[in-house]
Amino acid sequence: MTDRPTLDRAARDILKANDRGGYTVPNGHVYPFQWNWDSAFVALGFATYNRSRAWEEIETLFSAQWDDGFMAHIVFWQDDEGYFPGPKVWGTNKKIATSGITQPPVAASVVRWLYDSATCDSEKERAAALYPKLAAWHDWFEKYRDPDGKGLVVSVHPWESGRDNSAEWDEPAAAVDISNVDPYVRRDTSHLDASMRPTKLDYDRYLAMVQYGRDCGWDHKKIATEGPFRVVDVSMTMILLRANRDLLALAEALGHSEDAEKLKARIANAEKGVSWLWNEDAGAFCSRDMITGKSSGMVTSASFLAFYAGVANDVQRQALASHLERIGNKLTYMVPSLDPDHEEFDTIRYWRGPVWAVVNFLVSTGLADAGLADWAERVRKDTGALIEKTGFYEAFCPTTGRGTGGDDFSWTAAMWLHWAGKSKAGNVT
Ligand code: DGY
Repeated sequence: MTDRPTLDRAARDILKANDRGGYTVPNGHVYPFQWNWDSAFVALGFATYNRSRAWEEIETLFSAQWDDGFMAHIVFWQDDEGYFPGPKVWGTNKKIATSGITQPPVAASVVRWLYDSATCDSEKERAAALYPKLAAWHDWFEKYRDPDGKGLVVSVHPWESGRDNSAEWDEPAAAVDISNVDPYVRRDTSHLDASMRPTKLDYDRYLAMVQYGRDCGWDHKKIATEGPFRVVDVSMTMILLRANRDLLALAEALGHSEDAEKLKARIANAEKGVSWLWNEDAGAFCSRDMITGKSSGMVTSASFLAFYAGVANDVQRQALASHLERIGNKLTYMVPSLDPDHEEFDTIRYWRGPVWAVVNFLVSTGLADAGLADWAERVRKDTGALIEKTGFYEAFCPTTGRGTGGDDFSWTAAMWLHWAGKSKAGNVT
C-alpha cells in the first residue's frame, strides 16, 4: 500500500515517460504508438495538472482524421519494430500512417468535460475548433457503422471494441476464414506473459480481418455490410450514445443549433435501437452478431455501460443491479470483464476476467448518474485499491489484485489522477 501523494507523483511520472511530444503512448514497450481511446482518457489525467497538454493530446489525435471523418484506432507517428501489426500490414496509404479500424468514441465526452471545466476562453476556442472534427467522426459512425439505421454500432474487428479478446467475439470470429493468413511474428508475447494474452488462433483471426480490410482498400461501407466479422458491440454502442449526448451539449453551448436538432433525433433513435441488444434470458445488454442475429448472452463489464448511456428501464435496471450484487459478493474487486460464473472466465487472460480502470470509470460514472451511488463508489474504491496495492497496470486480477498486461500504463495513471485516486467521488464526466 502506497500513500496518495506518492501515487500521484508516480502517475504523473508515467504520463511524462510515455509522452512522445504532443501524444502519449499507452505503454512504451507493448503499445509504442498513439491509441485512440487511450489518448482520450489520458487527456483527463493531464487535465489535473496541465490543461493545455490535455487539449493537445486530443488535437494531435484528430490531426490524423481521414477526410471522411474516420478516426483510426492507432496513429503510427513513427515506426517501431516492437509492435505487430505495424503500418505496412495495415496498408491504409494515408499521409499520416494509421490503422484501418476505429475504437470506442469517448473523445466527445472528454472534450465536453474539458469544456465544462475550462479555466479560460482559449480552452473554449480549442473546443470550438475540435467540435466539427468530433461531429464528423460521429457522422461517420452513422453513415458507415449503422447499416440498419437503428442507432447501433457494428464492430468489424475485436480490436475496435478495445475489448480485444472478450469471449463475446469467440463465436462470430470462429466463422472467419483463416486459411490465407500471411505468415507473421507476434510481438506482444515477447513483452508479456502469453497466458495473459489472446491465443494464436485469436491472432490468426485478427490478421485475417485486417487482410480483408486491406484487400478491399479499407472500403468501410463494404467491410460493415459484407465483411467476415460484423458484431453489434454493446460497449461501442453505449459509449457512442453517451458521446452523442455530450456532443449535443457541446453543439448547444457552441451555437450549432442545426446539429443539435440532428443529434436529438439520433439520440432518440438509439434509445429505441439498443433494445435489440437486451437479452431477456441473460437479464443484460449483450453484443449481438449481425450476420447470424445471435446474442452472446454474456454478462460483461460492458453490459453495465447501459447506465453510462442512460438507457436502462426499471426492469433492466433491476436485472443489472442483481448481477452487480451477485458478482460483487463473489469477487474482491469490481468490475470483472466477464461474469465469473461464465465457463470462459479467466482471472488473468485479456478481457476474460481482469478489471480495467477505464471501463470502471465509465461504469461508475453511469452508476452515479443512475442514482446507484453505493455501487458507483464501490467501483471507484475498488479501482483505487487495486492501484494502491499493485501499481499502474493495464488491468488487474479481480480476485487477488495482481497486475495483468503491461505495467506503467498511461490510462491507468490518468484514471488515478482524474478519478480513482480522489478522496471522494465527483469530478467525473
Ligand atoms: C493489440 O495489439 O493488442 C491492441 O490491443 C490492438 O489495438
